[in-house]
Amino acid sequence: MAKITAAITAVGGYVPEYKLTNKDLETIVDTNDEWIKTRTGISERRILKEAGKASSDLAVPAVQEILRNKNLDPLEIDCIIVGTVTPDMVFPATANILANKIGAKNAWGFDVSAACCGFLFSLETGVNFIQSGKYKKVLVVGVDKMSAIVDYTDRTTCIIFGDGAGAVLLEPSTDETGILDSILKTDGSGVEFLHMKAGGSLEPASIETVTSKKHFIYQEGKTVFKHAVAGMADVSAEIMERNNLSSEDVAWLVPHQANMRIIDATANRMGLSKDKVMININRYGNTTAATIPLCLWEWQNQLKKGDNIILAAFGGGFTWGAIWVKWSYTTKK
Ligand code: UT7
Repeated sequence: MAKITAAITAVGGYVPEYKLTNKDLETIVDTNDEWIKTRTGISERRILKEAGKASSDLAVPAVQEILRNKNLDPLEIDCIIVGTVTPDMVFPATANILANKIGAKNAWGFDVSAACCGFLFSLETGVNFIQSGKYKKVLVVGVDKMSAIVDYTDRTTCIIFGDGAGAVLLEPSTDETGILDSILKTDGSGVEFLHMKAGGSLEPASIETVTSKKHFIYQEGKTVFKHAVAGMADVSAEIMERNNLSSEDVAWLVPHQANMRIIDATANRMGLSKDKVMININRYGNTTAATIPLCLWEWQNQLKKGDNIILAAFGGGFTWGAIWVKWSYTTKK
């Protein structure tokens, strides 16, 4: 019997309309367009401005695009996995809220907290559900409303992050395409360099936690940067080596969009020219779990069945990893 792999059979994405430009940020904190562009590669990011809207509201249009394009009844979805660090609420999971909003009444689901690796870790989980043979349609979502946890008086973090959502549908395949390998890592000793201090069981919300701004992202950028450059490049090179993939064999690198300099270092290490690297950090900034599926969404019309694609990310936790995908379809133009 042919081996069952998990194939990505559809992609959806969504970014909110409102653009927060570098020029806008110049009026909020002591920064400038030139510094932001040269140090990060970012020109603008999208922000979900509407009151009363949350990560699930970003995810809904991304998933609806998949349902529409695949002519898929939401009742056919078996499972929804949402990678996010900005869930609508601490509990229940955003996956539950999303399932209800899209009418996926037969699905179960849960959230994965893996920061910038939220999509990769969720994808690996979904892949194994499909390969088990038990589940036929799994939605994997990467979504973050980072503006909910960004301190817009902190110039070292507010220039980086944006809001967005991307989603993929996983289905079983027997044609040897799909997700073929993964290398995923965590190192909890990195917690101190990138985290949110309060709101969890360690330091529940109080007046003190609010006044001392402990509900925002805390990042020691330089240290994270060093680990990210090494971590993302290492796993990307390793996944190529152990699968005998040369740089000619790789059609695309889909890197987490945290900093243009980290993306360049990873592509160099893999021996890839820039035209094989998906880059939208200039327009969306770092949308945490959404960066990788947002790239797949924007580039899907250029992807061909059989393309070897490497997804790679590094983020808080620390978490990092790379996934090898052999693309499963060519979009009809
Ligand atoms: O996605 C999750 C994982 N996160 C990452 O991968 C992020 C990794 N880190 C980074 O991308 C970079 O470290 C940052 C973009 C956050 C910062 O860039 P950097 O080149 O590491 O800058 P730095 O923190 O070393 O700061 C250099 C200088 C400092 O001034 P002095 O001390 O040299 O006078 C900062 O105060 O730049 C100053 N600076 C700024 N200047 C203008 C810091 N932020 C800004 C700013 N505008 N927004």
